[in-house]
Amino acid sequence: MFNPEKFVQEKIKELKNEIRGKAIIACSGGVDSTVAAKIVEMAIHRNLLVVFVDTGFMRKNEAKNVEVIFRKAGFNYRIVNASNEFISSLQGVADPEKKRKIIGAKFIEVFERIAKDFNAKYLVQGTIAPDWIESGGGLRDTIKSHHNVGGLPKEINLKLVEPLRDLYKDEVRKIAKYLKLDVAERQPFPGPGLAIRIIGEVNRERVEIAREANAIVEEEVEKHYDFEHRPWQYFAVLLPVRSVGVHGDKRVYGYTVAIRMVESLDGMTAAYFKAEHNVLEKISNRITTEIKKVNRVVYDITNKPPATIEWE
Ligand code: XMP
Repeated sequence: MFNPEKFVQEKIKELKNEIRGKAIIACSGGVDSTVAAKIVEMAIHRNLLVVFVDTGFMRKNEAKNVEVIFRKAGFNYRIVNASNEFISSLQGVADPEKKRKIIGAKFIEVFERIAKDFNAKYLVQGTIAPDWIESGGGLRDTIKSHHNVGGLPKEINLKLVEPLRDLYKDEVRKIAKYLKLDVAERQPFPGPGLAIRIIGEVNRERVEIAREANAIVEEEVEKHYDFEHRPWQYFAVLLPVRSVGVHGDKRVYGYTVAIRMVESLDGMTAAYFKAEHNVLEKISNRITTEIKKVNRVVYDITNKPPATIEWE
């Protein structure tokens, strides 16, 4: 049986020896990076700077929620709003791989500035075992360029510290509970955020629509299903497809939103979630009433493979 207390105590001792100077971590507020940050903070205290980069592609209220988590955890932290920089860098770009690469590069640029400023010598990452274990000949890397795996250290001249390297997700969740971090029950969220849930070109209007639609899906799913019965991931994708609809007695030509909910253990394979129709209907009604520009909602019933979980 995995013992979170024992793991944390031993890791702190190890880290005190390993880290001789300042360290920095890019923390999304997700389970892995927050747990990694907390363990390192317990070892080196203010010598760790916890950074949240707000790309502008975050979920509704994300920066605020993350700040609450950071404050409660007692971190020395910085929330950096770089949303203007990110959205301008994506102007006119519709290709999914290009979008990911641009976001990855921009992230490194912003983060590097802060690391230099803080005079950091070490880079902490919340890498867990499934992030680096080869799975079926590196399929994971070739399908989509997941920029959070190995992306930062190659570019930045910092020594890498990965306190969770040998752990699996359920063990990291146990540590989060033990450390009383509020992150244990959050669903995974991709690094490039809403930008890859907007098919085609990203602009401010589309980001706002995607953000609202994602918030509605999360709210309704979390209201209806407790943690044990929830899908592994549940979100909305804004499609470039427009279709005809009616609002009152007016003909409208509006956006289409696809809802995706999947069950999975590690994201490598997934089954579409057999959601109850009343939940889907509630989501659809809310999206089409609260987001005026959307007049059609569809449900994605594809497994992975052949589809991936995200649409880009
Ligand atoms: P796919 O879409 O490849 O996603 O089936 C598998 C899992 O990975 C998440 N995902 C990402 N996570 N950076 C991340 O940190 C990324 O660029 C990224 N792309 C996909 C996805 O949400 C799912 O959980």
